[in-house]
Amino acid sequence: MFQRLQEGHPVYGNLMGGRWITSQSGKFIDIHSPVDGSLVGKIPAMTQEEVAASIQDTKTHLKEWAAMPVFERANILHRAATLLEERAKELAEILVMEIAKDRKSALSEVTRTADLLRYTADMGKSLEGQAMSGENFPGGSPDKISFVTRVPLGTVLAISPFNYPVNLSASKIGPALIGGNAVLLKPATQGAISALHLAKIIQEAGLPDGILNTVTGRGSQLGDFIVTQEGIDFINFTGSTEVGMRISQLSAMRPLLMELGGKDAAIVLEDADLDFAAENIVSGAYSYSGQRCTAVKRILATDQVADDLVEKLKKRIEALPVGDPRDNAVITPLISERAAESAQELIEDALDKGAKLVTGGQREKNLLTPTLLDFVTAEMDVAWEEPFAPVLPVIRVKDVEDAIQIANRSEYGLQSSVFTHNIDQAFYVARRLEVGTVQINNKTERGPDHFPFLGVKASGMGTQGVRYSIEAMTRPKVIALNLQNP
Ligand code: NAP
Ligand code: G3P
Repeated sequence: MFQRLQEGHPVYGNLMGGRWITSQSGKFIDIHSPVDGSLVGKIPAMTQEEVAASIQDTKTHLKEWAAMPVFERANILHRAATLLEERAKELAEILVMEIAKDRKSALSEVTRTADLLRYTADMGKSLEGQAMSGENFPGGSPDKISFVTRVPLGTVLAISPFNYPVNLSASKIGPALIGGNAVLLKPATQGAISALHLAKIIQEAGLPDGILNTVTGRGSQLGDFIVTQEGIDFINFTGSTEVGMRISQLSAMRPLLMELGGKDAAIVLEDADLDFAAENIVSGAYSYSGQRCTAVKRILATDQVADDLVEKLKKRIEALPVGDPRDNAVITPLISERAAESAQELIEDALDKGAKLVTGGQREKNLLTPTLLDFVTAEMDVAWEEPFAPVLPVIRVKDVEDAIQIANRSEYGLQSSVFTHNIDQAFYVARRLEVGTVQINNKTERGPDHFPFLGVKASGMGTQGVRYSIEAMTRPKVIALNLQNP
């Protein structure tokens, strides 16, 4: 049973060994829509024993899966991509209601995921091994040759966040599967329904039983248990720095790939095209109400341009449609009322300490109007914390050195933007920023999804991006040939 109807609402199961099961405990979690509070569906609250059984189940056919030729594994991912495209509208509607993502972005999340799966399949087929001769090393001999291939790690635990339940589940599952691993997916509770639809599609594409299992349940209850299970050979986590830190403390000796929080800065220098910068920053900061790890989360503008830039930002921010994601509003209700309250606390703290409210700041339940704060200083929490909401602080800086220094003072290091026409200046800044990626004259963003994507400091460890993800979830296997001269 993937899904059955109970009083008109879908009740979902979890995939285990090719079957869709609910918890023997009979417990479910109601998933209410952040849009209007309606019940989107019920997901099982799995017990620890059921999680352990699901992990064990991934071992049943793991050897056959790893031995399957890569082109066959790739065909399954290609079929999954086609099914995703065929069902894109249906899945987008679920995303709209489950996580309040506007329809256009929801659709784009699904089609982007189909592209990602295809690219992953093709990348898997084109990865080649390596042969190395011993003679290249001092004292070595041409009679010693190593053959290096990549082999899977085993069972990958994929833990995904609420904001991209389809894409950030698939970007773990796809590369893990093409590498010959089995996957246990633990999606975010709010977002789980969309992720279960993805799992169903991958199953329908022909994935053998037990190679992708899912478990739903609250991370606060299942998390510590699941990340410490012996049968987990790799943890691929995207989510908050707080949870990521906990996982890294608990997961002793288990390899990890973690994409965590961010406080991406947009640095705007004197010679930037301010209309272009404002356009990019507004789209980068406010799309999906700022609930993106790569959202622009602070502006560092030099004193010379700050007044003009703020004026241009204000005009654009006030034109953003606010409201229902079904009407394609850009600013939609946040994932929870608690999230909106925390963002409001950041706004109030800044205003109490002397920041100027340029626009926004109104909240009704979980809907917060797009907010711009000017004259934000280092004493204010919003200068450093990630609001994950449509709240953008402007920190005015003296010059480029000041901008670099404040940018690097953050505990995070995901991405940064620098807006300038001077390419030498752009490179000067880019080389000094302690982040995974610097965008020159663009908003911060992850895509295209084959680029390496990584955070430094508290923003993560390891590198995503199709090829990088496959490499992270496989290891080299070396077979050394020692020739005897006849
Ligand atoms: P979150 O609260 O950290 O949750 C992420 C996932 O971890 C969910 O599946 C959650 O399950 C699970 N979880 C919770 N507690 C756990 C524990 N103790 N052990 C193991 N798993 C646990 O993050 P979120 O609110 O979904 O997402 C927002 C955060 O993710 C932001 O900080 C954002 O910057 C970050 N993010 C980063 C990236 C990136 O690529 N750098 C991308 C997207 C999001 P439940 O839902 O059941 O609690
Ligand atoms: O927050 C999720 C992260 O993967 C961002 O992706 O495309 O919104 O930059 P994107």
